[in-house]
Amino acid sequence: MEQYAIKGGNPLVGEVEIGGAKNAALAILAAATMTDETVLIENLPDVRDTKVLIQAMESIGVIVNRIDRHTVKINAAHIHDLTIEDDYIKKIRASYYLLGALLGKYRKAEVSLPGGCNIGLRPIDQHIKGFRALGANVRIEHGLIITETEELRGNHIYLDVVSVGATINVMMAAAMATGKTTIENAAKEPHVVDLANFLNSMGADIKGAGTDVIRIKGVPKLHGSEYTIIPDQIEAGTFMFAAAVTKGDVTVKNVIPKHLESISAKLLEIGCEVEESDDAVRVVAAKPLGHTHVKTLPYPGFPTDMQPQIVVALGLSTGTSIVTESIFENRFKYVDELTRMGANIKVEGNTAIIDGVERYTGAGITAPDLRAGAALVIAGLAAEGVSVVDDIKFIERGYEDFHIKLQSLGAQIDKVNTERELQKFKLKVG
Ligand code: UD1
Repeated sequence: MEQYAIKGGNPLVGEVEIGGAKNAALAILAAATMTDETVLIENLPDVRDTKVLIQAMESIGVIVNRIDRHTVKINAAHIHDLTIEDDYIKKIRASYYLLGALLGKYRKAEVSLPGGCNIGLRPIDQHIKGFRALGANVRIEHGLIITETEELRGNHIYLDVVSVGATINVMMAAAMATGKTTIENAAKEPHVVDLANFLNSMGADIKGAGTDVIRIKGVPKLHGSEYTIIPDQIEAGTFMFAAAVTKGDVTVKNVIPKHLESISAKLLEIGCEVEESDDAVRVVAAKPLGHTHVKTLPYPGFPTDMQPQIVVALGLSTGTSIVTESIFENRFKYVDELTRMGANIKVEGNTAIIDGVERYTGAGITAPDLRAGAALVIAGLAAEGVSVVDDIKFIERGYEDFHIKLQSLGAQIDKVNTERELQKFKLKVG
């Protein structure tokens, strides 16, 4: 089983190139099936989740040509099956984006009920409500979500909770419905905007993405396009916090600083220097980290996907911090692992009360999910001694070459597969 072996203590220093946004990529890959013409997608992150989604698309007849590691050509003219029932696909939540995409194009889709990160209950009632409002029948049978209709008709849809997934799914189906759709209380995340831009580049008529109200005029057909995916806000934020936690000096390159504002604001609050330029952000952590309070919120608030990373930083700050998780109800599971590294954190419901400690100490830890896994790696980079992180398959779902990028910043981290390789690592780092 692959693990990360980490020897902490080195400040991360240097520049790191951020890849395309995983969450935008998943929506855009699914949307690329909505035209019979060829679509070229650039800046596609080469991570497990995008690979799994591509595999599922191929299983129903979509032709995907890899031009290079980050560029694909997709042609969905010969889809022969509208059922995606793959054991693999259950593992990624975004598989359900194929529901909205195929329902829009073919008026029918059947997709295995999704899994995804184990961070709490993740209902799909708002997706279903949206599809039904567009006139589709939706039922769940034998582990599949089945949706079909003769005709999709535009409608006024108010989402009861701000949901990225429901906004994306309904937007895709509505893009090819007859008439106008309004989505109220829509999610405003950068990847929602990126998907709208991509669909518009294919001939859709979508306005208001990035605000609470998205207005869509359905079109009968979409055409081919060439599109470059936005940079990954969370990958960038993870490296920014890695700089803070290791008392380093890191420039994240190829980013959109506007998408990182809530993350930069918190780093400034805890005493880091943050310098923005057109497409890069530099984080310098020269002083001891201070405490702060954080509440995760939908965009433009502080992202829930950055919550474990900021907790790792606050765990090493001076004073007491309170972090409130308002999006997912079970997103503090990793705290037990962090406690084993010496953190002093008490979790009460959706709140973590963090009393900063002077240092973490290396330990054997397990990545419970994607973002918490990355956060624990960062903790290991700051810790005294060696840490070994298990279950890194979760981390690889969303971070491309994570350990290689960290190595390039001076981190002592290796991917190891056997006890022998681990011993070799330990000998190497002394
Ligand atoms: C997406 C992201 C994930 C991120 C999350 C919140 C992708 C592939 N994943 O997940 O990384 O953590 O946004 O920014 O883009 N909800 C309902 N009913 C629904 C749908 C959602 O009650 O039908 C609730 C959820 O339980 C959660 C909240 O709405 O409490 C937000 O979830 P949502 O925005 O839908 O998250 P995902 O799209 O699953």
